[in-house]
Amino acid sequence: MPERSVYNFSAGPAVLPEDVLRESREALWDLDGSGIGVLEHSHRGRVFAAVYQQAIADCRKLAGIGDDFEVLLLPGGAATQFFMLPANFLPKDGHADYLITGLWSEKALAEARFYGDAHVAWREEPFCRVPEPGEINWSDDAPAFAHYTANNTICGTQWPAPPAPPPGVWLACDASSDIFSRPLELAHHGCIYASAQKNLGPAGVTLVILRRDLLEAGARVRELPSMQRYDRALGSMFNTPATFAIYVMGRVFSWLLKQGGLEAMARRNHKKAQVVYDALEEPAGFYHCTANKGSRSLMNLTFRTPSTALDRAFLAEAEAAGFSGLGGHRSIGGMRASIYNAFPLDGCQALAAFLRDFARRNG
Ligand SMILES: Cc1ncc(COP(=O)(O)O)c(C=O)c1O
Repeated sequence: MPERSVYNFSAGPAVLPEDVLRESREALWDLDGSGIGVLEHSHRGRVFAAVYQQAIADCRKLAGIGDDFEVLLLPGGAATQFFMLPANFLPKDGHADYLITGLWSEKALAEARFYGDAHVAWREEPFCRVPEPGEINWSDDAPAFAHYTANNTICGTQWPAPPAPPPGVWLACDASSDIFSRPLELAHHGCIYASAQKNLGPAGVTLVILRRDLLEAGARVRELPSMQRYDRALGSMFNTPATFAIYVMGRVFSWLLKQGGLEAMARRNHKKAQVVYDALEEPAGFYHCTANKGSRSLMNLTFRTPSTALDRAFLAEAEAAGFSGLGGHRSIGGMRASIYNAFPLDGCQALAAFLRDFARRNG
């Protein structure tokens, strides 16, 4: 494949590791020497079964997921988990607690309210930080679960560590935009879900890590159509799964293991983000980081120049210079540099140089 001349800062679907793209290109024609391409294999055949099992095994190894959790690869994106989770676990006469740190947690909250009561345990606009532990207003009587969004893709904030839930309450986490960017904390969690198209692969498959006891009879709180039931999703084959997306996800897990695993990714992601944040802060007063220090995301770095006119000029010049996808989410504007696992350090260094040069010329 020829060298790419563009750095892709898209928030998702996003940049994938070059090695994974090369392997996927080969597999489109011939998957593992089978003479049949990955798009053409039956999901129930021996060859794809091996792909699936290896992906699950690598995912478990990478994140240290033991037998007390199931690993599912489901369709429908994180948005399906927004309703599937409360459909299974939020009783009609019960309640769940939701920590609202951005637009995606708002959406998760709205879906939960189709099924039961959802108490807002923290919310503060503008969404420029996550709460300190003492600020969370958990409901008085134990909620069915407590939901939070690990990384807020739009406003550029991230929980430095998961919230501590009330005793006996399990956490549900939307980790769509920072899954496997650092070691995965499973303690206190009942469910962690993440759509693939940022850190894990192409759109079309969602990783769901679910505590096994929640699949037992009695854990599900209502009758549901089969596609909405986690217990029917075991093996991820209730319907025909997104075979190609699962194949690519498996290659990403393998790539992450080869990079040294999640500790190594965390170190690398820290360094990459630091390079960009330093450039945003050094020409003092020119750029404004929209997330507060202490809550800043290492995945989505959001910022503005002194004016919307300069924001527009910045984006136009950046695009022309080969920095693609730096526009902020359409709901808030400004700029956002998404630098997921597969985004290279040299892209962050190139952006830092561009940021300094633009500030020098326009400050
Ligand atoms: C944190 C977060 N949650 C949920 C979603 C929605 O994911 P999907 O479109 O796969 O349903 C996104 C998409 O950007 C996201 O960033």
